[in-house]
Amino acid sequence: MKQKWLLTLGAAALLPACVILDVTQLSNEPVDFVADVKPVLESRCLECHHSRYVFAGLNLETKKLAMKGGRSGPVIVPEAPHQSLLYKVLLLGHENPVAMPPTPERLEREQEQIIHDWIKQGAPWPEGVRLVPPQDWTKSRS
Ligand code: HEC
Repeated sequence: MKQKWLLTLGAAALLPACVILDVTQLSNEPVDFVADVKPVLESRCLECHHSRYVFAGLNLETKKLAMKGGRSGPVIVPEAPHQSLLYKVLLLGHENPVAMPPTPERLEREQEQIIHDWIKQGAPWPEGVRLVPPQDWTKSRS
């Protein structure tokens, strides 16, 4: 009888632990390049990293160019976000001149997580998908 009671208690104690585990797994949900990653890069990075303004030699318009990287070489190491400059520059403090984007507003935590998970999942980029700089940008300078 006493044993049964203990078992119930054990199960009840396990429940919150399972919930916590589940929450941490959320961050590893499959990332969709077009729906999740593309809007982040286009709205926050493309204005300075596309064919007209290729800062640091890094053009993120196409998969091929993005994978080639910038003046320091490849910036995306598939499955290794912490070795990928494209992700590492997001985490730098703003006193650092290489922190990206170089504006005071860093990416939202959730957007950083998207870039992290995308690289972790092998940085899939469907063939033929091309990134474009923000609309306002083109209007204000053409
Ligand atoms: C306002 C312009 C601007 C924006 C927006 C911007 N960058 Fe940059 N980026 C630069 C400049 C300028 C450098 C060179 C910085 C330096 O070394 O002084 C650079 C350098 C980099 C580098 C280093 C490349 C290399 O090979 O050394 C990476 C990676 C990078 N940016 C990624 C990003 C990402 C990711 C975003 C969006 C989250 C972004 N940048 C947004 C201007 C920009």
